[in-house]
Amino acid sequence: MTLTPRALDEWRNRAEAEYRSAAVAARVVHNLIATGMPRALVQTGQRIVNDELDHAELSHGVWLALGGEGGVDIDVAQLTPPAGPPLLLLAEDVLRAFCIGETVAVPLFAAMRAGAEHPAVVSALERILRDEAVHRAFGWDALAALLALDPEGVPPFMAARLPEALEGCRRAYIVPHDLRRPLSAEERGAGLIDLDEYQHIVEECIRSSILPRFAKLGITPAHGEDTPGG
Ligand SMILES: [Fe+2]
Ligand SMILES: [Fe+2]
Repeated sequence: MTLTPRALDEWRNRAEAEYRSAAVAARVVHNLIATGMPRALVQTGQRIVNDELDHAELSHGVWLALGGEGGVDIDVAQLTPPAGPPLLLLAEDVLRAFCIGETVAVPLFAAMRAGAEHPAVVSALERILRDEAVHRAFGWDALAALLALDPEGVPPFMAARLPEALEGCRRAYIVPHDLRRPLSAEERGAGLIDLDEYQHIVEECIRSSILPRFAKLGITPAHGEDTPGG
């Protein structure tokens, strides 16, 4: 099979991103323990660390199956955890990586799976998609636990951070992808989706899922254009 470097780049980037997700999930587990959160959340968090390490290996396997050679270099400097109070670090990660990142990941991976044909791609995406639904649910459960722990402090924190976190999500999924040129049938078969699909899925998920879920908890973006249900 001959594939453009774009398809290989996508899967190499995904392997790195999944590995970074494992580091974030491990940090979340640490901060769940440091803030005395319920054991069930800690256990799901531990499962997620393992899932993300599996996803990194699976993505690396897809990269090899598509013709990539060698290992994937991880920029470990990016994995150094930030310093700060555990509750604030936890709130930041739950917001960015889970309530936004994992919630957007579910429809994105579903769209990638819908067009995938290469057997290695299909099996990796099916496993990832199954897990991401669990990770998304964990994010909203963790947010509920944070609200119960600090009902005065967490809502304004989330409201203040939401606009920037949503922008970060839009940039993360959209800007680095060299997907402006139309995809070939083989690239779609390798699980790629084009820029328009990315943008549409991200915006639709923010509008119809993320903002309404925050709004139900009394959290609306403190400033910016995002309004729930708009
Ligand atoms: Fe993952
Ligand atoms: Fe995940």
